[in-house]
Amino acid sequence: MTQPTLPTAAAINTSNRFSASDKRLINCNQVDVNQLMPLKYHWAWEHYNNGCANHWMPTEVPMTKDIETWRGNQLTEAERRVIMRNLGFFSTAESLVGNNLVLAIFKHVTNAECRQYLLRQAFEEAVHSHTFLYVVDSLGLDEGEVFNMYHEVPSIARKDAFETELTAEVMDPNFSTATDEGAQAFLKNLIGYYLIMEGVFFYTGFVMMLSFHRRNLMTGIGEQFQYILRDETIHLNFGIDLINGIKAENPQLWTPEFQQAMIDRVKQAVELELDYAADCLPNGIMGLNEDLFRDYVQHIADRRLERIGLPMQYGSTNPFPWMSETMDLAKEKNFFETRVTEYQAAGSLNWD
Ligand SMILES: [Fe+2]
Ligand SMILES: [Fe+2]
Repeated sequence: MTQPTLPTAAAINTSNRFSASDKRLINCNQVDVNQLMPLKYHWAWEHYNNGCANHWMPTEVPMTKDIETWRGNQLTEAERRVIMRNLGFFSTAESLVGNNLVLAIFKHVTNAECRQYLLRQAFEEAVHSHTFLYVVDSLGLDEGEVFNMYHEVPSIARKDAFETELTAEVMDPNFSTATDEGAQAFLKNLIGYYLIMEGVFFYTGFVMMLSFHRRNLMTGIGEQFQYILRDETIHLNFGIDLINGIKAENPQLWTPEFQQAMIDRVKQAVELELDYAADCLPNGIMGLNEDLFRDYVQHIADRRLERIGLPMQYGSTNPFPWMSETMDLAKEKNFFETRVTEYQAAGSLNWD
C-alpha cells in the first residue's frame, strides 16, 4: 500500500505573501485563484453582493392569471407568436450563456473576486433556465417546440450561431490567453456574450414581453422578465467592468484593428436583432413595430459601445423610455406586491 504524499516544502510557503496589487484579471502568475482577500477588484465584489441581494426563484411567481389568459381568447394569434418566439429564444439562450460562462470564461479569468461573481452569475443563469421550464410547464406548452426553436427558427438560430462559435473558439484545447492573439479572442468572447448576447440580443425580447405586462396581460411572465432584466443588468455591468479592466491591464490588445472588428461585430448583431424583431412582429402589435425596434436596438448598441470606450455608430433616440423606468425597479411601488419574500433589503443598483 502506498503512503499518502505529504505536501512538499515548496507548497508550504510562508515567506511570499502577496499584496492586492499583484492580482491580474487574466494571465495572473503571482496570485492563485483561491485568494479572495485582500480584494483588489472591489467592483466585482460589489456586483456579487448586488446579485445576492436580488435573489429570487421563478416558482414564487403565481401563474394562475397567465394560465387563464393563455387558455382564453384575449390574445390574438400575432400576440401568441410574440410570446412563443421569446420563450423559444430565451429558454436556450440562458443555457448558452451559462455554458459559455462555466466552460469558456471561468477558466481564463485568473482572479478570485471575479470568479466569485461568475459563480453567482452561473447560478442566476440556472434560475433563468428554470423560469422557462416553469413557464412551459405552467402554460402546458409544447416543450419540444419551445426548446428546439434555437435550431428550427432561423432568426433565433442565426443569433445563437453568432455566439456559439465564440464558445467553441475558447473551448479549443489549444486555446490560451498567453498570446495577444489569444487574449484578443478572449475579449471577443466577453464582448460577444456580455455586450451583445446579454446586452443587445436580450433587449427586444424584454421590450416585447414587458409590453404585455404594461397592458396587464401575462403578468406572471412579465414579472419574471422584470427579475431577469434586473439580473441581466448586473451581468452586463460586470462584463463591462471586466472588459475595461482587461483593456487597462493589457493596453496592447486594444489596437485600432481590434476596435474596428468589435464595432463591426456589434453592427452585425444589430442586424441579426432587427431580423429577429421583424420575425416576431411581422405585422406589428401593441404599438410595437419594426421601425421602433430599429431605433431601439441602435440606441442600446450605441450605449454598449460607449461603455467600452468605442464610438457610437447610430445616434438613434430611445423610442421606449419606459424601459429605463422599468429597470429602475427600486422605484416601482407595485413591483413586489405579488412576492412572498422580499430579498432586496437596501441599496441602490446602477442601471445602465
Ligand atoms: Fe440570464
Ligand atoms: Fe445573464
